[in-house]
Amino acid sequence: MLPAESSRVLIVDDDTETLELLREIVTKEGYQVQTAEHAQAALTKLDQEKPDVVITDIHMPGMDGITLLSEIKARSPETLVILLTAYGSLKTTVDAIKAGAFDYLSKPFIVDEIRLVVRRALEHKNVLTENESLRDQLRDRYRLDNIIGSSPGMVAVYKLIARVAQTDSTVLIQGESGTGKELVARAIHAHSARKAGPFVTVDSGALTESLLESELFGHERGAFTGAIAMKKGLLEKAHLGSCFFDEMANISQTLQSKLLRVLQEREVRRVGGGGPMTVDVRIIAATNKDLKQLVESGSFREDLYYRLNVVTITIPPLRERPEDVPLLAQFFVQKYGSNKDKRVTGVAPEAMDLLLRYPWPGNVRELEHVIERAIVLTPHPAVLPHDLPEAVRTAAEQGSVHSGWMTIDALEKDYIIRVLDAHQRDLGRASEVLGIHRKTLLRKLRRYGMT
Ligand SMILES: Nc1ncnc2c1ncn2[C@@H]1O[C@H](COP(=O)(O)OP(=O)(O)OP(=O)(O)O)[C@@H](O)[C@H]1O
Ligand SMILES: [Mg+2]
Repeated sequence: MLPAESSRVLIVDDDTETLELLREIVTKEGYQVQTAEHAQAALTKLDQEKPDVVITDIHMPGMDGITLLSEIKARSPETLVILLTAYGSLKTTVDAIKAGAFDYLSKPFIVDEIRLVVRRALEHKNVLTENESLRDQLRDRYRLDNIIGSSPGMVAVYKLIARVAQTDSTVLIQGESGTGKELVARAIHAHSARKAGPFVTVDSGALTESLLESELFGHERGAFTGAIAMKKGLLEKAHLGSCFFDEMANISQTLQSKLLRVLQEREVRRVGGGGPMTVDVRIIAATNKDLKQLVESGSFREDLYYRLNVVTITIPPLRERPEDVPLLAQFFVQKYGSNKDKRVTGVAPEAMDLLLRYPWPGNVRELEHVIERAIVLTPHPAVLPHDLPEAVRTAAEQGSVHSGWMTIDALEKDYIIRVLDAHQRDLGRASEVLGIHRKTLLRKLRRYGMT
């Protein structure tokens, strides 16, 4: 919010008494106030002073307030206009809002109402300005293709993408679900010398082992029942391009060793015979699991891990870079906010506040869905708090997230889970270690919804 003294208000009324009254009230709020006694004078001041808000009477000799309003909108669309209407003249009021007035004040005035309406107008103006500056940032800085973010963590990711794109080395992208691993993989390809070649995605999580194998390596005709024609594998299709292995951690041990051979020999063989074929492919792998840990526990081959892990790009979770939230929110508002019967242009400050405090377990994907949904629901030009899902509102209200401190309850729960995990979930052992009765432990677990 801008300081009050840098907000400019212009008041227009042919009645000097009203003019003085309004000047006094608005000046007391700390704003810079200008006045004009007719519309022409107002237009001159509009050009000179660039007021944020104009308050104007409707009935004035010469140019009336409604005409002045449209004149202001034409010259300075971002200036907000508040009309002064006679009490009960609903028809003019409706016309005023239709003509683009921000709000209206009816005479006789209520002082608090004047203050409130002016303050709301200035706040609204601030949102517009802020959104404008976010839009500027989105246009050039703080993005790489479709990847948005200005946090140091994301800027580091952009640099790595740029550097690794110039090489042919294998890349491992790590990050929680919804952090944009696929976007990063596509950006590496798009900035590499292979950009004219194919970008092929292997969804390692979605297929059974044998299906995945024939998808990857292809098969000869008659290789197995149903193989009525020869089929090229994905690795072969990715020749001269990049092959993106999504959910690398899901690949079976057998396929892991076959893949290792591909990485070493740069050759593939179709299922069911045929000689080796050389493929020139850059491999980009992604995982939302800690592969190193999987290596330690024996479910992922160590040699394959080292082959993949030539360069690792780790995308930080959204909760560790809250400064990216406003930029991303604005990006998604622009993406979803302008369809034919609706125009949503920003996020109101109170709603942004909630977005900033929510921990985003589903990362950017979840934020994208929340904004998309809010835009469908909201009748307003900006997303307001009650357009956000209950979960976002309540979690943000509890708001211990960014303080860095845990509540006693959360701490206790966390500790109990760790003790249970360390003792193979044996309640008897765990309660001994914790020094509480087994029944007490059960009660706590039930309270945490964990039985
Ligand atoms: N930094 C970002 N800027 C803009 N959009 C993003 C960003 N990060 C993620 N997204 C969007 O969020 C969604 C999820 O991204 P993506 O599919 O790349 O995530 P992921 O890390 O592959 O997730 P998963 O592990 O669940 O597959 C996509 O719609 C993507 O466009
Ligand atoms: Mg993905």
